[in-house]
Amino acid sequence: MALNAKRGVFLVLSGILILGLALAFERYPEMISELKAIIWGTAPTPQLSAFSLPRAVNSYSRYAEEAGWEPSKMRNTYAKIGSRRRIGSQLGYPKKLERFRETIAINSRVTNAIVALAHEEYGDEARTTQGDGTDLGRVREALKHFVRDWSEEGREEREKTFRPILDVLKESRPTDRQGASVLIPGAGLGRLAWEISQLGYNTTAVEISPYMNLAHRFLLSPKTTTMPNQHTIHPYSHWFSHQRTTDSLMRSITFPDVVPRLSDNLHLREGDFLSLPTPKLPVLTQSTHSTSSEFPSSAEDIDAEEHGYDYIVTLFFIDTSLNILSTLQKIHSLLRSGGTWINLGPLLWTGGAASVMELSLDEMMEAIRMSGFAVHQSSDGVRGRKTVECEYTADKNAMMKWVYQAEFWVATKTR
Ligand SMILES: C[S@@+](CC[C@H](N)C(=O)[O-])C[C@H]1O[C@@H](n2cnc3c(N)ncnc32)[C@H](O)[C@@H]1O
Repeated sequence: MALNAKRGVFLVLSGILILGLALAFERYPEMISELKAIIWGTAPTPQLSAFSLPRAVNSYSRYAEEAGWEPSKMRNTYAKIGSRRRIGSQLGYPKKLERFRETIAINSRVTNAIVALAHEEYGDEARTTQGDGTDLGRVREALKHFVRDWSEEGREEREKTFRPILDVLKESRPTDRQGASVLIPGAGLGRLAWEISQLGYNTTAVEISPYMNLAHRFLLSPKTTTMPNQHTIHPYSHWFSHQRTTDSLMRSITFPDVVPRLSDNLHLREGDFLSLPTPKLPVLTQSTHSTSSEFPSSAEDIDAEEHGYDYIVTLFFIDTSLNILSTLQKIHSLLRSGGTWINLGPLLWTGGAASVMELSLDEMMEAIRMSGFAVHQSSDGVRGRKTVECEYTADKNAMMKWVYQAEFWVATKTR
């Protein structure tokens, strides 16, 4: 009898535990593989889990499955609507949830193609295991970056943030641009880098996130992208809030508006810009060639690696730094003597005490000066400091706006 009672308690407790886990899994589907990895003792280190290539590949490959939980959960919740169900169906709400599911299937054509290309281009490095985990949020963000960087829909946003930067770079005569090098740390999906290369500069984009690099490669490869507006996604269907119409929520975006390719003057380096080799000779003289194992050099990069870059361009980048002084020091050391740093962006620090310092703009400008730069005054024409009101990967039809008062400055390396 006592044995049966104990067994009953055990079964009830197990049931509660399983139910709890099931609810947690339903709420956070991306937790499943991580929990499994913990249970099986194959959990990756936190650093690996955030930015490993297998995790990014895994995230893209499981997009359809994991994003598909959302319409299922919404359908379950809708089932509890009660006696006013008729209004729900007259509004077409069940159909709306079905449309949502269809948009995920369409998006997954792109995410699956990204995965296939990753396996082809990275081989064993891209092989995934059950312990790699997933990050659905980063995949959704990458889809929104396709819009911002490579669609007609993103033109207005790009225009506001790219224009001040490109105006400075257009000051040089086209013939002078060909011998000049530009480095773009944290290049994201690479549109700004591409625009700069189109001006004639020898341009190097550096990006650490495999989520970004996999998506960027999908555009750069003739195996996956051959013509303008070849691909279709529904980037906003995951955000039901602040939508004026259901058609707007579900709308499709085609991309790319232009087809980018790497070339003699456009290079992509996948890795940490803080690990780029420091130029041996800040002043142009004869030297030997320097390389790093993380970033094997191409012939075009050798000059910049030896003598420093003529320009460094940071767009929505510096505040991602966990140590802003190291970032400033690195920008300084990578520039030629007299070289130019162009910045545009907010100061949205990572938060949670993750960054060693979270500076205000006045402190930032002082730190820049102390790091060996002279910043142009606001009266200095296209190089003048200014505040640029802009958005970043926004849904322009939405009822809510997150507007940055981003700061633009041009600084010269003085010592
Ligand atoms: C806010 S996003 C901006 C991306 C791009 N500049 C744009 O405007 O779309 C910042 C980017 O910097 C990248 N990043 C952060 N730290 C980096 C580092 N140390 N080296 C290379 N990339 C980095 C991130 O992965 C992310 O893609």
